[in-house]
Amino acid sequence: MSQFIQKNDQFSIEENAQSKRILNITLSKAVIEQFLQKIKDEGINIQHLEYTPYERQVIAAYLEEIAGHSFGNILRDIVNDRATGGFTIGLEGVSKCTDEYVIFSTAIAHLVGISNFDSMTGKYYARFTVKDTDSSDSYLRQAYRLFTLHTDGTFVSEATDWLLMMKMVEENAKGGESRLLHLDDWEELEKFSANSLGQHKFQYIAPPSKNVQEIVHRQLFFLKNNRPCICFIDQFAYPESIEEAKFLKALSQSMESDKHVIELALPVGSLVVLNNEFWLHGRAPFEKHPELNRELLRQRGRFYH
Ligand SMILES: [Fe+2]
Repeated sequence: MSQFIQKNDQFSIEENAQSKRILNITLSKAVIEQFLQKIKDEGINIQHLEYTPYERQVIAAYLEEIAGHSFGNILRDIVNDRATGGFTIGLEGVSKCTDEYVIFSTAIAHLVGISNFDSMTGKYYARFTVKDTDSSDSYLRQAYRLFTLHTDGTFVSEATDWLLMMKMVEENAKGGESRLLHLDDWEELEKFSANSLGQHKFQYIAPPSKNVQEIVHRQLFFLKNNRPCICFIDQFAYPESIEEAKFLKALSQSMESDKHVIELALPVGSLVVLNNEFWLHGRAPFEKHPELNRELLRQRGRFYH
């Protein structure tokens, strides 16, 4: 059983029913109410958070003070823990206001670390909608297609240590769950990481919608604390030989077909935080519906040093 399992008056931590590598953190409603009230009392809104980076950390500190019990340390320890590396947390129905979802996710993210600039939106976070039709240039907003397993931040030069995804809105949505795979659960990890191409620096180029112009080269597998980590996305890799292309395709197919991939159930107003170096994420296809409407928020960033 995970060392993080605990319960006090402010929050409880349990194993997720779908994966023992994900911990479900449940804040008491009183903690969430006090936190949202504090934000109101201080007059902090989303624009303050967008324009003044330190406000993001200030509200993280408010949440930590109200939750107590070294709450921030626990979040950081979980995301850094190789055996787990992920948690879910939510507003427990206390608020249905999406502005408050942004505020809450910002506090959680900034207990874990510092959010990176998201070039797609020009903010420290991105909200994006999946609907019945889409004319964009990547799988991000294409509802009826499998969004293959990947890590984030492949085509930017800064580090992307962690990733946060929050469910903001969900209407007429069947399917579309986040598909997740922990690297240590992948049965063919050794086969691919030990291959000489496993150490190769692959070339990544972002599509126009990401607003990132640089070409970066990133090593596919790398060691951290003596354990293999991965940096991979199929859509934006530009192999420089047929051998590289075949290797990446086989790797992607192996991950997609692994029986340890989970499709995470996540209610509206809840979020998941994952270590981006040893958790892969993607999305299951939705079932066709003309009124499909789902909005997610993402933040990704680096750890404090
Ligand atoms: Fe992603």
